[in-house]
Amino acid sequence: MMDLKKAFNYWFVEFMKKHPLPTGSIIYQPILMRFVITSRCNARCPHCYFIQQKEDFYDSEPVDISFNDFKKIFDYYAPKLTSITIEGGEAMLHPDIEKIIDYVTSVKVVCRFQTNGIALLQSIPKLVKLHGINVSLDAVEPESYVAKKGISNKRIFYKCLEGINKMVELKNSNKIALREISISFVVGKDNVHEIPKMIKLGERLGVDTVNLQSVADLGSLKSTTPIFKTDLNEVIKDILAREDYKVSINMPKEFSKENERFFCNSLFNQINLDYKGDFSPCCHVMTDAKYGNFYDSPESYNSPAIKQIRKSFIQKRIPDFCKLCSRRYRCRWKFDRHAKKWIYKETS
Ligand SMILES: C[S@@+](CC[C@H](N)C(=O)[O-])C[C@H]1O[C@@H](n2cnc3c(N)ncnc32)[C@H](O)[C@@H]1O
Ligand code: SF4
Ligand code: SF4
Repeated sequence: MMDLKKAFNYWFVEFMKKHPLPTGSIIYQPILMRFVITSRCNARCPHCYFIQQKEDFYDSEPVDISFNDFKKIFDYYAPKLTSITIEGGEAMLHPDIEKIIDYVTSVKVVCRFQTNGIALLQSIPKLVKLHGINVSLDAVEPESYVAKKGISNKRIFYKCLEGINKMVELKNSNKIALREISISFVVGKDNVHEIPKMIKLGERLGVDTVNLQSVADLGSLKSTTPIFKTDLNEVIKDILAREDYKVSINMPKEFSKENERFFCNSLFNQINLDYKGDFSPCCHVMTDAKYGNFYDSPESYNSPAIKQIRKSFIQKRIPDFCKLCSRRYRCRWKFDRHAKKWIYKETS
């Protein structure tokens, strides 16, 4: 019964995304959830969405959601969700992370985990029930790693690689639920030429997928610059010429007029909530009580502030903070390691 409900909800969300109401309201519960369970972070990536929006955000007193509050909120939405991404800050630092993962994975919801991997090596036993994990590696060597993560200890780069290696070994042993391990790199003009090395590193580590994400500038990015078509043209020809990669690859989206769209999936199919129950309109904008709070209204994904942002999209008036965000660009090159071919495909 539950699965039928989910299937119907999924179909309805897809239909309504194509036929949005002019008011910006949605008349379904979004099927994806991103839960920011802690405000802690052990890195200070200069490009980080949240640091862009509030420079000293991670220097304030940390707040974690309690396990009971997590459960209360998750249980409310779970019957209609297809997947949840557990995130922070750095979710691995949550004191009850194991309990949270155990709980979510005991329900029929796909559980993915987004981490910077700094504490991965010592945390593996807590993570084995996950279905998918993405480690934001962001660099191919220790020197650029510390710069990208805003930390000082270069040895952490090797520890992170060791953690990924161990996770891959465990996954390949088929003794755990984990089915997808990916690594990601935020790509800007400063490191676009390193894409071939990033793919090679992914192959060496034995991960399933290498995610190359275009850096988003929400208005105050200082550390690098987003990539346009011409920047990608320089590296893409040689990469697309090969079809024998051992990993699946998601190439970065280029910001270009032809690739632009007046739509953002995140605004229509995802619930974004934090450790205080505060909402945000999408996975890139910081959570804030002004977007609604679970304890005031669990349907705050229809709060006036969130509806207003959806309305701007519907009326083709793109908010400034969205202009250089990859979610607003349609297609990217994707390599499928099983089919051994490249396709240029529309993605969210
Ligand atoms: C905000 S982080 C939180 C989870 C975890 N701390 C991490 O770094 O993986 C979530 C994802 O957003 C990515 N990210 C952060 N800032 C970005 C930006 N300006 N453009 C593109 N991706 C960004 C990170 O690399 C990471 O993959
Ligand atoms: S590790 Fe993640 S949350 Fe922390 S600063 Fe970097 S991108 Fe932001
Ligand atoms: S395009 Fe705008 S609304 Fe969509 S994810 Fe990016 S910042 Fe958020």
